Amino acid sequence: MNTDSIRTYIEKNFSEKRKIHTEGVRQTAIRLAEKYGVDPEKAEIAALFHDMYRGVSVDVLNYYVKHLDLDTKYLNNANLAHGKIAAIIMERDYGVTDGDIINAVSYHTTGRAGMSELEKVIYIADAIEPNRRYPGVEELRKAVWEDLDQACLMSINHTIQYVSGQGHYLDPDTLLARDDFMKKEKCNE
Ligand SMILES: [Fe+2]
Ligand SMILES: [Fe+2]
Repeated sequence: MNTDSIRTYIEKNFSEKRKIHTEGVRQTAIRLAEKYGVDPEKAEIAALFHDMYRGVSVDVLNYYVKHLDLDTKYLNNANLAHGKIAAIIMERDYGVTDGDIINAVSYHTTGRAGMSELEKVIYIADAIEPNRRYPGVEELRKAVWEDLDQACLMSINHTIQYVSGQGHYLDPDTLLARDDFMKKEKCNE
């Protein structure tokens, strides 16, 4: 797929900070894809699109939530809405037809039960790209090269703690993702 149109969108619309983040996710996702047998081109496309609506105002996001018939839980919630909107628009306006790439964008914030390898790569690349700074990120950066599932579970647990601690709405998909990874961990014991 030709990525010129999304690259142009990024150049025109993203803040400098978001451009740097997206490039960090792109590079990290490609390296992880190569390590874990995922198509690096798909990882690159998902990385480029994943935050295309992250810097958009909540009013615009709410407009999309209504007009794209998304669940009302996404209203006034930029954190949850931005990936869902990008996943629809990348198919509608940018000609991305690969369901796995679309899901990787759609679930990059929450995770979900039954994540594909590409979904995991994007989820974790977003969390550990070199410009991320938060307690525990170094541990995650190490873990991801040993065990992708384990790193995803660590990151999901971190998200659950953080979101609950802030008193924000926690998407049920995140809890289902945690249960799914915990089940897998038990099976491998
Ligand atoms: Fe995002
Ligand atoms: Fe991101």
